[in-house]
Amino acid sequence: MSKSFRLSPKYLAVIKVLPFVVIMSVLFIGCIDFGNGKKPLQPVAPAPAPTWSADVSPLFNKRCTPCHISQSQAGLNLSTYQSATSNERIIKPGSPDNSDLVKRIEGSIQPSMPYDGTSLSAEQIKLIRDWIADGAQNN
Ligand code: HEC
Repeated sequence: MSKSFRLSPKYLAVIKVLPFVVIMSVLFIGCIDFGNGKKPLQPVAPAPAPTWSADVSPLFNKRCTPCHISQSQAGLNLSTYQSATSNERIIKPGSPDNSDLVKRIEGSIQPSMPYDGTSLSAEQIKLIRDWIADGAQNN
């Protein structure tokens, strides 16, 4: 004894649209950006290398040339690019660790510089280091 089972047209309509609703839901959820726990990539501009004209020369003029001008102290003239870079023992392009000037301002060769008992700040030392590492260019 079978009883015929008929869905009312109302339910039939719901069942017909159901696959469509499911597919749309999946597509919609697929489009949501859950972020994946990652931060969006942001372009990080590297800090520009210090230059002779904007950074190093003004610093030398302020802290060094009172003594190191016109070959005065230790025969070292830091007032022009040509004179400052004329001796690779003092400034070795590309190699701050092998530059006596860096050793002097860091104090690994005594007497340390500046000779007046003060010292350069960590930022100023880094600036000179970075400029030499970048090739001690006339820029
Ligand atoms: C108050 C004067 C004075 C100031 C300021 C000064 N110097 Fe000197 N500098 C000297 C004297 C004096 C010597 C020689 C020291 C010695 O070896 O007996 C010297 C030596 C040096 C040498 C060694 C040179 C060589 O042939 O090996 C370097 C490099 C140097 N100074 C770099 C600097 C730098 C860089 C600054 C600035 C951050 C500076 N000096 C500031 C007086 C000064």
